[in-house]
Order: sequence, then C-alpha cells, then structure tokens
Amino acid sequence: MVLPIVHYNDPVLRQKGEPVTVFDAALTQLGRDMVETMHAARGIGLAAQQIGKALQFCVVDLREADPDDFDFELDGSRPPVELFMPMMIANPKITVLPSEKDSYEEGCLSFPDIRGDVVRPDEIEVRFEDAQGVPHVMVCNGLLSRCIQHEADHLNGTLFIDRMSKRTRAAIDRSIKALAEKTKAQA
Ligand code: NI
Repeated sequence: MVLPIVHYNDPVLRQKGEPVTVFDAALTQLGRDMVETMHAARGIGLAAQQIGKALQFCVVDLREADPDDFDFELDGSRPPVELFMPMMIANPKITVLPSEKDSYEEGCLSFPDIRGDVVRPDEIEVRFEDAQGVPHVMVCNGLLSRCIQHEADHLNGTLFIDRMSKRTRAAIDRSIKALAEKTKAQA
C-alpha cells in the first residue's frame, strides 16, 4: 500500500525514532509499504518519519542506480544487489571510516523539487538489523553510503537542510519557507 509522504515542516520529521524491538509480521508489512511508497515516488531511500512514524527504521533501494556510483561489502562478502535490495534497515549505527569528504546534490521526498549540495564522509560502516531482526554489518561508499547516512539522519530527526553550508541553505531558503507554509496550510 502506498502511504502518504510527510512534508517539511511536519513535526514528526524532527522526532528521534524509537528503537525497533519487535521484529514481527507488522514490521515486515510496514517495510513493504515503505518500499512501495518509495518506488511510487521514484526515491532511493525512505525513513519511517517520512510516513509519520518516529521509529529507527528505513528502506533503501539502489538497484536502478549506476553500479559505478558505489561499492560495498555486506557481512564480509559482495552479493549482487538484487539479492538484498530493497533493504529494510532497523536501528542503524554508523561509524565513519577514514576517507575523503564528498559533496553531492541531494534531494529528499519530504522536500519536493528542492535540492542542494551536502558534504558527507564517503566511507562508512553501518551495523543494523533487517526486518527479521538478523544483525548485519555493511561497509560502503559512494551513493549507497550517502543514501544510508541521509536516511539514518532522518531517524534521529536530522534533515539534509541541516547539513548544508550556510550559502547553499540560503539559496533555497524561500522554497523551504514556502513548503513549510504549504504543509501548515494542509494540516
Ligand atoms: Ni530524505
């Protein structure tokens, strides 16, 4: 089922997610609904806050992305992406690995038509549980690392606009204010 996506500045986007402790059929169904919602919106990641739930849970799918845009190791091997994407990620814990920082123009499904450069570390290790509660370790870089960092930020109430330089943020300030007004009017 495609769920409505929450737009900025709905207060739920600023809420820190509760840890996932129950890995049941309802969580898997939520994950499936989030994947369907993300695909319908043509996104590559979606966090629980974006469908109105303050939970440490997000989905990511880079199967359509250029394989040259990222590299990874999942639990010590490198399976084809088709085998584990779309990913359902619960309780992600990110460790930044020594690497260059990278600037990239990000978008967010909670900010329609708004984009801006965000600098992030390139390489990370992320420990998480899947929807069945099975723990995993992924080391990744490039677009996958960026997408997971963006989604993990959502789970803590942090948004990509918080990570922009003052100059980048100022350049889109009017669009952000207009979106906040529109969201308020629709509430
Ligand atoms: Ni986002």
